[in-house]
Amino acid sequence: MEKFIIDGGNPLKGEVSLCGAKNSGFKLLIAALYSNEPSTLHNFSKIGDVLTTAAVIKELGGQVSFGENHVLQVSGKNLTKQNLSQESGQLSRASTYFVGPLIHRFGKAVIPNPGGCQIGRRPIDRHLEGLKALGAQIKEFPDHYEILAKRLKGGYFAFPKNTHGGTDIMIISAACAEGKTILENVAQEPEVDDLIAFLNQMGGKVSRVEPRTIVVRGVDELKPADYTVMYDRNEAVTFACAALATKGDVFVLHAEEKYLGAFLEAVRKVGGGYQIDRRGIRFYYQGQLRATDIVTQPYPGFMTDWMGLWSILMTQAKGESIVHETVFENRFAFVNELKKMEAKIELFNPRVDNPEAIYNFNLEDDQPQYFHAARIIGPTELEATTEEITDVRAGASLILASLIAKGKSELLGVEHVERGYENLDGRLRLLGAKIARKKL
Ligand code: EPZ
Repeated sequence: MEKFIIDGGNPLKGEVSLCGAKNSGFKLLIAALYSNEPSTLHNFSKIGDVLTTAAVIKELGGQVSFGENHVLQVSGKNLTKQNLSQESGQLSRASTYFVGPLIHRFGKAVIPNPGGCQIGRRPIDRHLEGLKALGAQIKEFPDHYEILAKRLKGGYFAFPKNTHGGTDIMIISAACAEGKTILENVAQEPEVDDLIAFLNQMGGKVSRVEPRTIVVRGVDELKPADYTVMYDRNEAVTFACAALATKGDVFVLHAEEKYLGAFLEAVRKVGGGYQIDRRGIRFYYQGQLRATDIVTQPYPGFMTDWMGLWSILMTQAKGESIVHETVFENRFAFVNELKKMEAKIELFNPRVDNPEAIYNFNLEDDQPQYFHAARIIGPTELEATTEEITDVRAGASLILASLIAKGKSELLGVEHVERGYENLDGRLRLLGAKIARKKL
């Protein structure tokens, strides 16, 4: 176990390169299990979610080999098991992703409830309803599901509400189903299109025919592919917020304007500086930031994964900002820590006329003790802290708060950040951050 020790106050300056997308990489590994021949993935990031998924694939008998320079090979050769263990299933959101390849081989998949960041109940009802539409028989047990089908059959499914993961697993499952599948009200996250591109390189027939409609023509088999994972736009936002909050100037290599529309619009509103370049985007501080309000939404809206980082930035903006989280029902855990750093922030529930339409989570998962918005007053000088990190983005947010705080902070729970960021502290140090790691 390790902790970060951070001395705040240094403006971040220089160039940093993005790694492969956390919310794409591990999904491509699982889709590659459809082939007995090895697929080669380039630009994957050495993060917990990828390493965990690789361990699960090996546990099932599959092959994963890590090469140099972020290249790995993966195949479904020797896949012999169709049961994911509880432990492995709890470590990430990956379990339902395995259903398609396992059903294709064995007509059966046994999966535990997926884990991942504790930012809400995160049920998989939309995944399971989708699989039923492809003819899967689902037996529910207290801690796992048995999913059975001789072969999945193409069908029609409209998601009741947006789901990134649900869209992914339906595309993967329908890729080798018998016949055509039409998916409506699908997610538009660019990582979904990365998955589609990879499956089509394996010989799949998946097309996004409308912004929120995907048609999958099932094929009997998929072949290996050689593919480069997209860069991580959540990392781009992390470094951009770090540049602006520390009054610095950072060039983010491989950041792409087309994936960051809602974020760049918010940066313009608060008076942050940025310059688009064919190699990436430069983010720089150009004077006192102005308070502004944001509402998180599924892509192409302002991403929920940016909300914590943005909240930290708003502690340095002049005036009152509102941050309204509509995707996950319980994603403000980091606020308690922020209050201990003297931030002027309070949680509340805004009046919402049509919660069913506004909130992406199932309303029955909401709890009276959950808040869906924060009111932030700035600019405020933050004080150093000693805290426990609880999840990937809350961790990145507390690191950012510590980089701007007066004094030395200690953050335990480095492993949570490593689930989503490769060598974040090393890359921050290259930009002039005073951040060190220490064994506990
Ligand atoms: C993916 O999570 C990402 N994770 C999340 O990133 C990201 O925040 C989210 O999509 C939204 O873009 C990965 O890709 C591994 P959803 P996912 O299904 O697929 C509810 C990060 O920080 N819902 O779009 O789990 C759900 O609980 C992580 O990198 C149901 O109720 O997100 C949530 O409130 C965090 N039933 C909302 O919908 C379902 O069957 C959106 O979930 C499915 C989802």
